[in-house]
Amino acid sequence: MYSIDLMVKEHDNILKLINVIKNACCEILDGGEVNIEDFEKMIQFARNYADKHHHGKEEIILFSKMTQHLGNLAEKLINHGMLVEHDLGRLHISELETSLKQYKDDPKTIYKLGIIGGAIGYANLLTRHIDKENNAVFTFAEKNLSSEILESIDVLVKDFEKNAHEQRVQEKYLGILEELTSKYCSNK
Ligand SMILES: [Fe+2]
Ligand SMILES: [Fe+2]
Repeated sequence: MYSIDLMVKEHDNILKLINVIKNACCEILDGGEVNIEDFEKMIQFARNYADKHHHGKEEIILFSKMTQHLGNLAEKLINHGMLVEHDLGRLHISELETSLKQYKDDPKTIYKLGIIGGAIGYANLLTRHIDKENNAVFTFAEKNLSSEILESIDVLVKDFEKNAHEQRVQEKYLGILEELTSKYCSNK
């Protein structure tokens, strides 16, 4: 199915960001400088691509169809699972941003700890979250939603993608990801 295939591909891109985040944190632990500009780019990708662009499609389109048409189990899975994890991801990113600002003003080790804590909290949460979606939530949706509903999801997702494309969302953030990946993930 177009929409689920697309969202799984987006997960691969988010997992690339997670590798960047982990390698950037390892560099700090190995005694390297905190590259504030690069961490700001990671935050931008997490907020605008992983959250607004990807979680946006899940929340507004796929998950909303699942809670409307798949009963109690889907409602629990989405409202008490996936959506809570999206919120927790936002919290980790804002903790990372706060520590980064504090470190920028006053480069103390305690703020470095906050940067690593926020970044790794996000990385670990999203890794588990993506695994659950790829292997349980998306497969559950594809198996149980009617073909009419699946088609209506595809129509809405295509429209969402078209709008984002017109605003060059994919181009901009995949460009940032490419730049970060070549810096932090080559030969690793
Ligand atoms: Fe999600
Ligand atoms: Fe997802």
